[in-house]
Amino acid sequence: MADKARQDAKQQLDTMQRYYAWQSKIYDATRWSFLFGRKKIIDILPFEKDATIKILEIGCGTGYNIERMARQFPNAQIIGLDASSHMIDKATINTSAFSDRVNLERRPYFFGESQYSEQMDLILFSYSLTMINPQWRDLILQARRDLRKGGYVAVADFYNSNFQFFKNHMGNHHVRMDGHLVPLLEAEFERQELMVKPAYGGVWHYFMYIGKKKN
Ligand SMILES: C[S@@+](CC[C@H](N)C(=O)[O-])C[C@H]1O[C@@H](n2cnc3c(N)ncnc32)[C@H](O)[C@@H]1O
Repeated sequence: MADKARQDAKQQLDTMQRYYAWQSKIYDATRWSFLFGRKKIIDILPFEKDATIKILEIGCGTGYNIERMARQFPNAQIIGLDASSHMIDKATINTSAFSDRVNLERRPYFFGESQYSEQMDLILFSYSLTMINPQWRDLILQARRDLRKGGYVAVADFYNSNFQFFKNHMGNHHVRMDGHLVPLLEAEFERQELMVKPAYGGVWHYFMYIGKKKN
């Protein structure tokens, strides 16, 4: 990694570690009210219930999606990775019923050589990419590398807002809300699903995207 990219990644990691030291304590009690689309993206994943698949969630937080995916796909092996040790501590508790097939990694995802011996069938980013700034582009490209050919990327996240005050507010919480993710996903993957939905009467929009690795 070049020096500038390394510095950016280190700074973003420190920011997440600080931000979630406290937010991890209230995360599960509060996020249901605004992280929309998390259930839906899992409901529409293009796998049979009994599929034997390898799943990686990048920025798994407290394990909300991992628990849901472990129930939905009883034969799946799931890796959850998060930059915040506080969030991984919560995820360890929340996913303990599935510890035989869930592995949690306390580390940031970064661009470079793959850290996995096998490629994934599915990589999920749920409300992590809009917080991965400025290296969101690199991490989408890394996810593409870590997927097998024909594997899927699934993303649920903030899309955009017409209200600058709201974008500024989200910026204070380290979220970039700029419609910047979908064009790169569209360029790198073959779209299977794209849904953009309003939240709170259109104060912001969120999106759900599923794409297939073409080659
Ligand atoms: C808003 S939370 C989403 C958590 C979970 N995916 C969910 O849907 O509830 C964003 C998570 O991404 C993690 N994160 C941010 N940057 C990361 C990075 N570079 N590598 C791994 N995790 C990261 C944060 O620590 C945080 O737990």
